[in-house]
Amino acid sequence: MNHALETSFKPETTPGVKASHPLDPLTIEELSNVADLLRKNKSLGATCRFPYLQLEEPSKQEVLSFKSGDAFSRRAFAVILDKATGSIHEATVDLITQQVSRWERLDPEVTGQPAIMIEEFFSCVDIVQADSGFIAAVKRRGLTDADIETIQIDPWSFGYFGDEEKYRGRRLMRGVAFVRDDIVDNGYARPIEGLMAIIDLNEEKVIELIDDGHNTPVPKTKHNYDTASLGQTRQDLKPLQITQPEGVSFTVEGWQVNWQKWQFRLGYTPREGLVLNQLSYQDGDRLRPIMYRGSINDMAVPYSDTALNHYWKCAFDGGEYGLGRMANQLELGCDCLGAIRYFDIPAVDDNGVAFLMKNAVCMHEEDYGTLWKHYEFRSETYEMRRSRRLVISFFCTVGNYDYGFYWYLYQDGTIQHEAKLTGIIQTGALVPGTRNKFGGMVTPEIYGPTHQHFFNARLDMMVDGPNNSVVETNFTPCDMDEVENPWGNVFNTETTVFKTELEAAREANGTTGRFWKIINPNQINSVGNPTGYKLVAEHNPVMLAHPDSFVAKRAGFAKKHIFVTPYDANEMSSSGFYPNQNKGDGLTYYIEQDRPIENTDIVVWHTFGHTHVCKPEDFPIMPTEYVGFSLRPNNFFERNAAMDVPAEGNNHSVDTVSGVSKSGSSCCSE
Ligand code: CU
Repeated sequence: MNHALETSFKPETTPGVKASHPLDPLTIEELSNVADLLRKNKSLGATCRFPYLQLEEPSKQEVLSFKSGDAFSRRAFAVILDKATGSIHEATVDLITQQVSRWERLDPEVTGQPAIMIEEFFSCVDIVQADSGFIAAVKRRGLTDADIETIQIDPWSFGYFGDEEKYRGRRLMRGVAFVRDDIVDNGYARPIEGLMAIIDLNEEKVIELIDDGHNTPVPKTKHNYDTASLGQTRQDLKPLQITQPEGVSFTVEGWQVNWQKWQFRLGYTPREGLVLNQLSYQDGDRLRPIMYRGSINDMAVPYSDTALNHYWKCAFDGGEYGLGRMANQLELGCDCLGAIRYFDIPAVDDNGVAFLMKNAVCMHEEDYGTLWKHYEFRSETYEMRRSRRLVISFFCTVGNYDYGFYWYLYQDGTIQHEAKLTGIIQTGALVPGTRNKFGGMVTPEIYGPTHQHFFNARLDMMVDGPNNSVVETNFTPCDMDEVENPWGNVFNTETTVFKTELEAAREANGTTGRFWKIINPNQINSVGNPTGYKLVAEHNPVMLAHPDSFVAKRAGFAKKHIFVTPYDANEMSSSGFYPNQNKGDGLTYYIEQDRPIENTDIVVWHTFGHTHVCKPEDFPIMPTEYVGFSLRPNNFFERNAAMDVPAEGNNHSVDTVSGVSKSGSSCCSE
């Protein structure tokens, strides 16, 4: 049922719309054109796949000097995998000259493998299900042919555990199994423990089956969550309507969005999903840049369990699967409430066939409580303003987990990112009466292995111009001193400007109130301070796997909360571009160069996340967990930037006891 309001926008299609800006995502026509050019010029046969195809972003210089109507370059970046030979090529296609301008073979043992494709998700299931060794192993566990027909195989990235000859050069995946009586059953309620298949995706066969022979019984209890299984729902919810009778307060032109004083260009890549480009704020007659490009570029979800089914698990959901590629088609009135503007995203499937991801990105306005307020008790006057925020989001499903990525822009100049974690946890079965010390009990039959979720935000900052620095502040106690601190009440504020990359790989410290600020040392405000934005981090864990472990080397970005690098167009991913089967790449390797980062074009990388100890409340579907960060103006504006928000009150509001509606339309004493 769809209860969405009539004020909601109809989704608009983008095919045929010509790119009008260098950062516009490739159109359907351009994507088709690129795939055709590659097929023709490189004689790509039926066994070739396109694990990656997107806009190759033009240089910053070109983008920043671009004016509406100017000609601009148009290139595509593609990765081509030939399943027959296992060969992998990177290509650049110039859409203006219609040439393949770069064609470079990769050595997957050096670079890692391209992301897992959707067809491999499905083929992996068929391959395992048909494997005679697997069939025998599950039958030893008491399963029947009928059980095998409806079995669930979870395809997992292989990881990297050393340079073993038998795996060398192969495109691999792992599969673990769950029992279902029906394909709509929640398989995670009934894991088959102690059995894991390794699949060669190009050869399309199981190359290894590891069976611990313990024969942990398959749990029997079902935990389905479809409406019928859930039974009677609560009956006391009254409708809650969100209406904007006069329409929305934002405008959209192509990929450009204007809302209140904010302006940005929406971007999208298969790996990251949503990208905010050229985010700026109109301050009087100045359009002030804040961030050139912001996205969640990758994730890592390492599992802390020694069990056969779990020890190797660490999903890099961005680089190994593609947060953008796995995006949901959002449902009006369910995922998105109120007056919604959807963006359909042009994409290609594994065969390079272009299509539109309908309703992939959702944008709307939300009330957000108090923006600012004061009641002056002496004169009995008050001024109150309600806060409104613009929400730009998408949701993706990567296997068992569902992740929402929400950017919020506020009227006071605050930028916020919130990741929403929901979906189903990975589960393990237990021998009755036993517990697993590396996981939390979820039902009497199953546990959830403890794991960590790390997200990395790549924030290409541009506060008031391209050259920025990052400053760390710590508050430390002062010694008692007759002159400086006679009452012992004051404390020191110590600030350090990071000079090189290695200095800037830092962890948060709540005891000293540590925070980081991105400043423009060349722009001094009215009180003599450089203009800046403060990174407000939350209480985030760091990677707890041993530093010598493979996973710590592969997801090094999770060992610190902040990194700062000088801008390099080739450094777009905190885990490297190809984390799949990669021994280690990305941020911790980039920063070894220890390049200067002071008063130059810098990128700030922030790792945030959650350590997840599973519990009964996480099952059968986990209630949403929220993690994220904010960027708040700090010496950026001359005063509270939201003082000019009108005092309009909401006169649809009602006192539920007296039934009286709000009189007047103002939130100030008149
Ligand atoms: Cu979790």
